[in-house]
Amino acid sequence: MDPVNVLEFEALARECIDRHAFDFIAGGSDDEVTLGTNRTAYERIVFRPRVLVDVSAVDTSTEILGRRIALPILLAPTAFQTMVHPDGELATARAAAEAGTVMVVSTLASCTVEEIGAAAAGPKWFQLYCYKEKRVTEELVRRAETAGYEAICLTVDVPRLGRREQDFRNVFALPPGILPKNFEGTADLAKVSPAEHGSIVAAYVAGLLDDGLTWDDVAWLKSITSLPVWVKGILTPEDATLSADAGVDGIIVSNHGGRQLDGSPATIDVLPEIREAVGEGIPLLVDGGIRRGTDVVKALALGARGVLIGRPYLWGLAVGGQSGVARVLEMLRVEIELAMALCGCPTVGDVTRRHVDLRR
Ligand SMILES: Cc1cc2nc3c(=O)[nH]c(=O)nc-3n(C[C@H](O)[C@H](O)[C@H](O)COP(=O)(O)O)c2cc1C
Repeated sequence: MDPVNVLEFEALARECIDRHAFDFIAGGSDDEVTLGTNRTAYERIVFRPRVLVDVSAVDTSTEILGRRIALPILLAPTAFQTMVHPDGELATARAAAEAGTVMVVSTLASCTVEEIGAAAAGPKWFQLYCYKEKRVTEELVRRAETAGYEAICLTVDVPRLGRREQDFRNVFALPPGILPKNFEGTADLAKVSPAEHGSIVAAYVAGLLDDGLTWDDVAWLKSITSLPVWVKGILTPEDATLSADAGVDGIIVSNHGGRQLDGSPATIDVLPEIREAVGEGIPLLVDGGIRRGTDVVKALALGARGVLIGRPYLWGLAVGGQSGVARVLEMLRVEIELAMALCGCPTVGDVTRRHVDLRR
């Protein structure tokens, strides 16, 4: 049966891919409490719809750092997409370009920065993990710049990998031929052993990524690139203020889709206090648990310029490659348009804090 909403893609994806790969995508850390509250928190937010507004034309486009995108959804960085579909990141890049939005490409992509850059002309940002060896990190930034990426998105919530117990149970290893393609022969998987850490990804992070990062490294990153720098993984007003002080260009409110510190709050719950702390000067994006157009409109009302989705487009990729990702994006676009119309908001800019209420 054809899926009628994004959640129905999950069940289809489960049938299309290997169980270990499905678990790697689905899983959260520890008891998966944060994974769950990322979703349920949206249920406590209710709309205050306004009526008798002319919504004969609804425009879902929005502007982020001077770039207009067709809908307020970006594709979050996710690792190893060829595990899900042979076309992997190349299919995702093409679907994002077709939908008129940004793909954020993971450091741990299973195609190279250059291959993904050349796959489609749409806007791309590069998600950066910092390596213990600084020259490895700097080299990645240079390659992203040369390949035409428009921003660097520094992930700051992975000094170590959260305990994803589904992967431990599976002793998760990447299938043959799937690897972090940016590092063939350098920071590659041959350097680490899953046996010590329960999963190959945990071993990789422990072995190669820098767990000594501080705000000085954000300043260092700003100093080595002229691209806009976003920080991804902010959950408190304190760190949002420090991000602003460090001169970042944008903040992504994220708990890594419930995959890092379990017991972290739902991202939508902390968005308002972060918005208040940094004011209107810095654009905010939020991710985690967004599965419906109404979720997106709630996030816009609470101060986000846009959102990112992770798992939903991976389900689409698993089910149908490029066209599967395109279908997921189109479903969400249609839902956003409807929610905006029913809220009395013809444009994204019309969605305000007055359009929602919090029911605790
Ligand atoms: C399979 C998978 C791989 C991910 N890989 C990365 C990554 O390489 N870098 C990163 O910053 N975040 C990564 N994330 C987190 C996503 O960027 C995003 O924060 C999260 O998926 C959003 O939640 P959602 O899946 O509920 O939409 C990954 C998430 C998943 C599910």
